[in-house]
Amino acid sequence: MSKRRTAILISGRGSNMASLIAAAREPEFPAEIALVLSNKPDAPGLAAAKAQGIATAAVDHKIYAGREAFEGSLQKMLDAHRIDFICLAGFMRILTPSFVQRWEGRLINIHPSLLPSYKGLHTHERALADGVKVHGCSVHYVVAEMDAGPIIAQAAVAVLDDDTPGSLGARVLEQEHVIYPLALRLAASGALRIDAMRVIGAHGAPAAMVSPRI
Ligand code: GRF
Repeated sequence: MSKRRTAILISGRGSNMASLIAAAREPEFPAEIALVLSNKPDAPGLAAAKAQGIATAAVDHKIYAGREAFEGSLQKMLDAHRIDFICLAGFMRILTPSFVQRWEGRLINIHPSLLPSYKGLHTHERALADGVKVHGCSVHYVVAEMDAGPIIAQAAVAVLDDDTPGSLGARVLEQEHVIYPLALRLAASGALRIDAMRVIGAHGAPAAMVSPRI
């Protein structure tokens, strides 16, 4: 089996990156992490990846005149490492429609909400403010519109009475670390087919979660 040469794009601490790196060490995993790339040269995740022996690169968006020039350098770096699949993991730059189109079907992202609810930032604060009882995270294919692509995997967590954005976010993050490797495994193995907004081939969980518990 030839493994998909995968790049993880980060901007920060890289805990999801670490979960993908760990999963990809399994011999049967269909993707290998061939590059960790950050738009921030001082991202803690870059140092963590390097320490694990993974190739790393920084493409500092601040030195480019615009998004196209920045993405041109990004693309060169991806080409140099013969990358053919990308995972965004806390990558805080919006990608242009032409970059997204070029990588269509080979570009996935993790988002800390049950999409299509709470696209964008501050998802845990907004979920608490709305009083939802169930919150969670999603891995989805990236399309030009932000956080709007076909969903591969989701995990739900119950919102507790005494939750703060921090406590709720921590429980969601635990689940992110479960579903991102799962989604990458499915997507990289070619098991998935996209039919409009539905991703076919990612079999769902056997039971529903109801909150409050019954
Ligand atoms: C995660 O919550 C992810 O869902 C969001 O950004 C955060 C990145 O965290 N897109 P980490 O860098 O993976 O720890």
